[in-house]
Amino acid sequence: MRLLLEEAAETLLQGGVVAVPTETVYGLAASLASSKAIEEVFALKKRPGNNPLIIHIGRKEQLRELVESFPPGFELLAEAFWPGPLTLVLPVRESAVPERARAGLPTAAFRMPAHPIALELLKKTGPLLMPSANLSGRPSATAPEHVEQDFGTAFPVLDGGVCLQGVESTILIYQEGWKIGRLGALPAAVFTPLLGEEPPFARKAACPGRLHRHYSPKALLIAGDEIPEDAEALVGFEERRYPKTLPFFSLGSLKDPEAVARNLYRTLRTLDSQKVAKAWVDLDLPEEGLWATLKERLSRAVSGCRDAEV
Ligand code: TXA
Ligand code: MG
Repeated sequence: MRLLLEEAAETLLQGGVVAVPTETVYGLAASLASSKAIEEVFALKKRPGNNPLIIHIGRKEQLRELVESFPPGFELLAEAFWPGPLTLVLPVRESAVPERARAGLPTAAFRMPAHPIALELLKKTGPLLMPSANLSGRPSATAPEHVEQDFGTAFPVLDGGVCLQGVESTILIYQEGWKIGRLGALPAAVFTPLLGEEPPFARKAACPGRLHRHYSPKALLIAGDEIPEDAEALVGFEERRYPKTLPFFSLGSLKDPEAVARNLYRTLRTLDSQKVAKAWVDLDLPEEGLWATLKERLSRAVSGCRDAEV
């Protein structure tokens, strides 16, 4: 069910849950003030309780009552990248952010999205909790119909069209300096001019979401040099030639990582809507810039990947 902005704001203020567009992926929004809505978000997504929710803001002043202290460099990062696909983990005032939403951590993740509809909504509602609007472990939703695939056509969605970036925000965590908690739409190198170095990775446990299986369609995805005999489809790049003739699901061109990012989750979801049971994925991607994010997402979508610990 598609909602107008006013209806979405009203639903959220009354403790309902609504899917909201952002420039990265759709989010499943809940008011910080509604413990019922927060429970519903965990239940709808089937999200483990130890994986906290991101808080989205529409104006920087909305942080004042939620955040306990700002690590060095916060202002520079927020000034340079907000609104935009950067999430910053900050120490919170524990009384202002429900413990359940932050999975008991003394910190929370914050982001100001760059989607005009999301910003307008956030200015009306105040800060919203908003994890990605997909079933836990599944590919994120980059269009309203993806939200409906996971939660049904009756689910309330604020329609903002197709997401411009197509992959989630980059997460930075301050641990004796800013560290990458999750690769995302902003490549690590964009932070070098501000931070004086490309931020290193945080310990994996620093970002609870990295411990869970993620981004996988129902189709079994296989990577590697050999295309298995029983593969029903190939997922790869338009300029490559592959040694088997099977239905081909193109991620786009190796010359255009931004377009591949926009195609990624749609392509993985199409495998499921076409009832593909097993597909081979070309994981031979470049390493630099946004490709690092795309390789991480695809590797984690592939079954048996190193990161799928839970
Ligand atoms: O682009 C995005 O970030 C999208 C859109 C909707 O804004 N949201 C998103 O949310 O990707 P979600 O919940 O799918 O991913 C949030 C990640 C999770 O991996 C979670 O573990 C991590 O943020 N996170 C949340 N709070 C944290 C905290 N206090 N410390 C470290 N990581 C945290
Ligand atoms: Mg997610």
